[in-house]
Amino acid sequence: MDTTKLTLEQKAELLSGQGQWRTHGYPEAGLGSIFLGDGPHGVRREVVEDYSKGIPESVPATCFPPAVAIGSSWDPEVAGRLGAALGREARAAGVHLLLGPGVNIKRSPLCGRNFEYFSEDPLVSGVLGSAYVRALQNEGVGASVKHFAANNQETDRMRISADVDERTLREIYFPAFERVVTEAHPATVMCSYNRLNGVYTSQHRWLLTDVLRTEWGYTGTVISDWGAVVNRVAALVAGLDLEMPGTGGHSAQKIVDAVRSGRIEESIVDRSVARVAELARLGNDEEQGTFDAPAHHALARKLAADCVVLLKNDNAVLPLEETTIAVIGELAVTPRYQGDGSSRVNSTAVDIPLEEITALAGERGATVGHARGYSPADAADVARQADVAVVFAGTAIEAEGYDRTSLALPAEQVETIRAVAAAAARTVVVLSNGGVVSLEGWHDDVDAIVEGWLLGQAGGGALADVLFGVVNPSGRLAETIPLRLEDTPSHINFPGEAGHVRYGEGVLVGYRYYETVGREVRYPFGHGLSYTRFEVSDLAVAVTGPDTATATVRVTNAGTRSGKHVVQLYVATTTGEVRRPERELRAFRKVFLDAGQSIEVTFDLDRRAFAYWDVTTWGWVVAGGAYRIQIGESASTIVAEDGISLTGDPVVRELTMESTFGEWSAHPVVGAEFRQSMTRNLPAEQSADFEKANQDGLAMAANLPMRLFTRQAPGLFSEDTLEHLMKISRTVPVSQDEVRLPEVNA
Ligand code: BGC
Repeated sequence: MDTTKLTLEQKAELLSGQGQWRTHGYPEAGLGSIFLGDGPHGVRREVVEDYSKGIPESVPATCFPPAVAIGSSWDPEVAGRLGAALGREARAAGVHLLLGPGVNIKRSPLCGRNFEYFSEDPLVSGVLGSAYVRALQNEGVGASVKHFAANNQETDRMRISADVDERTLREIYFPAFERVVTEAHPATVMCSYNRLNGVYTSQHRWLLTDVLRTEWGYTGTVISDWGAVVNRVAALVAGLDLEMPGTGGHSAQKIVDAVRSGRIEESIVDRSVARVAELARLGNDEEQGTFDAPAHHALARKLAADCVVLLKNDNAVLPLEETTIAVIGELAVTPRYQGDGSSRVNSTAVDIPLEEITALAGERGATVGHARGYSPADAADVARQADVAVVFAGTAIEAEGYDRTSLALPAEQVETIRAVAAAAARTVVVLSNGGVVSLEGWHDDVDAIVEGWLLGQAGGGALADVLFGVVNPSGRLAETIPLRLEDTPSHINFPGEAGHVRYGEGVLVGYRYYETVGREVRYPFGHGLSYTRFEVSDLAVAVTGPDTATATVRVTNAGTRSGKHVVQLYVATTTGEVRRPERELRAFRKVFLDAGQSIEVTFDLDRRAFAYWDVTTWGWVVAGGAYRIQIGESASTIVAEDGISLTGDPVVRELTMESTFGEWSAHPVVGAEFRQSMTRNLPAEQSADFEKANQDGLAMAANLPMRLFTRQAPGLFSEDTLEHLMKISRTVPVSQDEVRLPEVNA
């Protein structure tokens, strides 16, 4: 590969696609063309490039569980097995780069693409995304982590400005990308369509270069979402290497013109050419391989079963042991197992839940009746004759390109559930939905609820496995199920207006909000039941270094079946200068335990587990003070807790006459001296309890900038003293060990 042989025109051309899915190739320079295909939960390689009749058919591929399900597995092993299988299928289809995973945060349950994203929590999203990318790329196929960044809605997605403060970006919307980039080194990062604080992400230099490359050390290729480039030259300068799809030479011409007219240096073109040329190496391996479709279908079933969340199971109605079972609802025969849009897979096979249930029931000598559609009268009749009724309910359709407007299930389904619950001895509801649905109006009428999300093509089998206890459910909610849409933290700002969506809830996204304000929810983040019972004990937490800690906890399967449990570790604190969420997930591990078995799980917590993004010093800061380490059954049920105290980072700010009296008084280095100097000229008996005697006055003065304070209390401080203290505050080193108060001459 020798790109020096390329003309400026050829180089410019290389920086945008050849048609919809390919890059340009220059065999004379040893540069091949590669194929990019969707993603994220199945390979979508279109058979023709003709969009006149909508999205064309793609080659058959396994539709694995979409990210909404994988997120609920809380299991990097599940994400990794998915990534590896996708890698095998991509190779077989001649796809060199798979457009996934999507690690955007579920800010609102209404986002139409939530089915393509993992979680409302950045740690869950990042850990799963990272495992997926590592495994996919191990197969020799490149990944594209998307959509960078703050693409959390579909409404006006091509133009809207996501207006997000920096702390919120750093703590909520960036960490999943940061983890994937730094741990798994994806071949590409795909920018989003939207603007971020007014600037299109495709031409956002701070985002694509300062943060992604300079801070996170990313060395791969930045590609655009399909059609996301607005100004090709601005995008190039900002750090966007490859524009997709091709523009028939239009963009190349813009780049050539910009170089020829001297508006940009050719070296900027060369920089991106080198990255795209590096990406093209993915096409070097000619070996395509094949994949075993039945084996992948079986894998899809296994992975799907690990994602199912058992929300409710009163009187242990599940697993099913009854002899007559009524299966109700159209979704039992026409399953919903994936969403619509660019991720739609042409499945190799589809499991029909009714058939899978009938098969497993048959093995157990049970019989199955069925009522199709959602007619309450028919459904109630069938349900009345059975020992247990299983109602399949769910959303009609969810797709890329638009958001939902309500969390409600279709009205006829709610009526059916209620009518069945009134008629049947026991009622189980199985849900199929890409975004959270409301359980209100029927939740208390039924005995059990199985949240099946969209489970991919083998979801029908996986659901049957869970219903009959072939698989013990182990999924946990990766997003909160609220009581009402109005309770959701983004509600008053979603989806924005006049071209802007304000992320007014800041870092209080999902459970961070509900737990902080004490808002009741239907089921909290992290919730999920099992057919066995897990206990945690012996939590021991120790500080291991400056601002790092380790936590060890014993987990016991105290029930009678083997199963998997997710140990969730949260950190809670109120120390420091900024408002912290009530608690934040900082580590988790999924463990498998036989009945009666017990193991010890250890978590190492690094600085970031305790840090917040400090907007004044522009970095991660650990506030000194007390931290609680909590083990939760969910974000709202803490079952073990221990405390530690951390030294933290000294945040030593420079004092100026604009700093307030309060900031002067509380300054970690000169504050004490400042306060002393206030009473230096007073008689001893007055100075002793000056602060106590003047509590009110001092509290009122706390917010006064020093320039005003000195006017209101002339003579209290000499100018020399203030000058001197300001000088010290400017020169103090930031490391705690080195902080010493220099001599102050009054
Ligand atoms: C989507 C991307 C997808 C691309 C290619 C875009 O509309 O936002 O996620 O990878 O199309 O199909």
